[in-house]
Amino acid sequence: MLNVKDIEVAYDATQVIFGLSVVALPGQVLCLLGRNGAGKTTTLKAIMGLLPLRAGSVSLDEVVLSELAAHEVPRCGVAYVPQGRRLFTEMSVAQNMDIGLMVSGAGRATREKVLELFPRLRERLTQRADTLSGGEQQMLAMARALCTEPKVLLLDEPVEGLQPSMIALIRDVIIRLKSENVAIVLVEQQVDAVLAIADTVAFIEHGRCPETMAARELQNDASQLRRYLGV
Ligand SMILES: Nc1ncnc2c1ncn2[C@@H]1O[C@H](COP(=O)(O)OP(=O)(O)O)[C@@H](O)[C@H]1O
Ligand SMILES: [Mg+2]
Repeated sequence: MLNVKDIEVAYDATQVIFGLSVVALPGQVLCLLGRNGAGKTTTLKAIMGLLPLRAGSVSLDEVVLSELAAHEVPRCGVAYVPQGRRLFTEMSVAQNMDIGLMVSGAGRATREKVLELFPRLRERLTQRADTLSGGEQQMLAMARALCTEPKVLLLDEPVEGLQPSMIALIRDVIIRLKSENVAIVLVEQQVDAVLAIADTVAFIEHGRCPETMAARELQNDASQLRRYLGV
């Protein structure tokens, strides 16, 4: 279980996260839902140790991630697919995946398993990452993350700007990962993209998480969506 407890995060003098707590369970999708600028990306960066905590803690099972250096966090089983994907664009599909494999020391079996999830990447192993379509780049970013054999996968707006067929593929992969007991933290601004696959929705507002709901409840009662997202 990923336990984010009472974290406070600042960019220099400007604090943007104020005592935020969320929990992500194995085999479940936790969706962080909130408007632009609410603090969703900052929260993911803080989990990865890319921003220091002013207070609070992040732990995965018994390991206190927030006491580790940032480069140690992926080795503990947390993978991060940043907003905008951030691939090594001049490298091939295979080389991008190798970087993920190096993090975990995983081998061919992991690579095969990941390529099974993304058959399209197998057809394009030698192709340069920057020549892939937007949807294929998102697949590669996820594939690279999955090559680290994560227990927790953080996805920052993974379907942003993608066409419906790609969104459906990525959704299928998320459902498959759930069945393999990965804990998934999914950041979104739009509820319709996630409600069907989310287990829990944590609303993020002005750097806080004032409310967490079962996704099921939200389907029956849309009033919280109006409140937090203005929809
Ligand atoms: N590198 C940065 N330096 C200073 N402020 C930042 C930086 N990145 C984000 N912020 C601010 O932190 C707040 C939260 O941003 P962010 O976490 O990116 O929101 P979200 O991902 O929910 O859209 C915003 O007010 C934003 O302007
Ligand atoms: Mg963001």
